[in-house]
Amino acid sequence: MEKTFLMIKPDGVQRNLIGPIVERLENKGFKVVGAKLMQVSEDLAKTHYGEHSERPFFGELVEFITSGPVFAMVLEGENVIKTARLVVGATNPQEAAPGTIRGDFGLTVGKNIIHGSDSPESAEREINLFFDESEVLDYNLSN
Ligand code: CMP
Repeated sequence: MEKTFLMIKPDGVQRNLIGPIVERLENKGFKVVGAKLMQVSEDLAKTHYGEHSERPFFGELVEFITSGPVFAMVLEGENVIKTARLVVGATNPQEAAPGTIRGDFGLTVGKNIIHGSDSPESAEREINLFFDESEVLDYNLSN
């Protein structure tokens, strides 16, 4: 089954949004197969966001993502990479539709509450960056 990586950013954790966000993702039908509250190191931040290293906001992005704990998740489900991005909403919360996580909880592109992998390649890369193999569980839900 397809897996993706999502991370509630420091602003979401600070604003006590872990519960409401995870509830939306579970309600959608995704299965949480890995989850942890963690502090992102500068090295991990720079690797994770490496594709943005030439952007003017890169320093700000690294500083922000390392400014406090994040809640990292691996979700599983049919077509979960694309569908989770629909639930998350557009990168800029000012353009994200109401009903999406960023549309409902975010206001600025820098502090946009949550990150979600944008392709099968980045999902695999990001899951492996943030999670050991033993932290991603294979189990059945009873329903
Ligand atoms: P994310 O999905 O985590 O992937 C890259 C992040 O860069 C993005 O969400 C935004 O939070 C951030 N970002 C994109 N554009 C800008 C910008 N103009 N200023 C600050 N941060 C940005």
